[in-house]
Amino acid sequence: VNVTSVRADAAVLSSVEAAARDWNAFRAAFPTTGKFTYLDTARKGLVPVWVEAAMSSWMADVYDNAGFKAFSMEQIESAREDIAATFGAPSECLALIKNTSEGMNIIAQGLGIQPGENVVISVNEHENNTFPWRYLARKGIEVRILAADENATIPLDAYAKAIDRKTRVVSVAWVAYGAGIRSDIPEIAALARRHSAVSVVDGIQAAGIINQRVDDLGADAVICGGHKTLLSLAGAGFLYLRKDLIGDIAPPYAAKFSFTSLDRTVPNLELAPDARRFEYGNPNFLGIWVQSNSARIIGTIGLDRIEQRVRTLSDRLIAGLDTLRIRVRTPRRWEQRAGIVSMDFGRRASEIVDALEKQRIIVSERDKFVRASLYACNDEADIERFLNAAESLKGN
Ligand SMILES: Cc1ncc(COP(=O)(O)O)c(C=O)c1O
Repeated sequence: VNVTSVRADAAVLSSVEAAARDWNAFRAAFPTTGKFTYLDTARKGLVPVWVEAAMSSWMADVYDNAGFKAFSMEQIESAREDIAATFGAPSECLALIKNTSEGMNIIAQGLGIQPGENVVISVNEHENNTFPWRYLARKGIEVRILAADENATIPLDAYAKAIDRKTRVVSVAWVAYGAGIRSDIPEIAALARRHSAVSVVDGIQAAGIINQRVDDLGADAVICGGHKTLLSLAGAGFLYLRKDLIGDIAPPYAAKFSFTSLDRTVPNLELAPDARRFEYGNPNFLGIWVQSNSARIIGTIGLDRIEQRVRTLSDRLIAGLDTLRIRVRTPRRWEQRAGIVSMDFGRRASEIVDALEKQRIIVSERDKFVRASLYACNDEADIERFLNAAESLKGN
């Protein structure tokens, strides 16, 4: 099967090329932008028409190629290359997994953490970067949950104090889903390394927005579900692991694809030396197909341009909130944030979220505050509509 020709449908290609030149064309590829003022990418990314095209091309592959050649493992390998190229990792260091939770659990269960050892996380972590670690407590593993300061930040010093020679893992969001604070991953990873602890990054609120190779972030592992700014589907994400760490993690599940040989009679099982060891049976072919197409598209648009666009739009939102005197909780400096802007209306956040929804403006409540989150499919008019509505809703 000629994968490239199936995927490179001419109409799709020209739409992607137009989108790469012009943000209005990019926005037009997301039909929901015409129906809502959508500022909730941090919950679920909007899905572009390219995803529908990819799903149709997957069905064409299913209809046109019978047996071995239909949705084959060869496509999984080419998908791995596409995803590796866009997000910056050697393909053998990438496992194509379901979601952030699966990646966290692979490490939590596979690293052989012993009773008396500990894991360091913080109050700013999402449930799915909390429960996989807290589940280890039943085995006598301590989970240290760092507190935030008055700015919702976890000071580096708190990590330095909490990490000790019994620490096996430090797990932290690249960008925290509540206040939108971008962590200083190189510093946190360096603190972990000093005590031979593994640094794990929940990348879901940053990958696809920040123009940064995952293998150059400084962390040992970067995990990402697909349903936000990877423009993938829920159920198709990735796990990046530093090459020399892969051999230290025993896969919690193993099956056909986890080993070097498919011969089930071999006397000695040998795990795959690369990140494929974390994959087992037939994968989410459709989700991975979509994810790889979206990775190619993000690569064509350019992560550098996407980052710049999100930065420009979020700067504008923050400036507008300042004018309205609505307190911004997210740090101002771009290096300390990404697409999330958390704000304090001085009123109950749920009332604001509900009132905005009545005007078809979609934001979230997180940590009792209003969270707007932007992507490159937003535009200046979205920001203006939000600010106009915000003005009439703010407290005194
Ligand atoms: C920081 C963060 N981590 C993880 C998730 C989701 O986890 P999973 O990919 O396992 O569904 C979200 C939101 O959906 C999130 O905001």
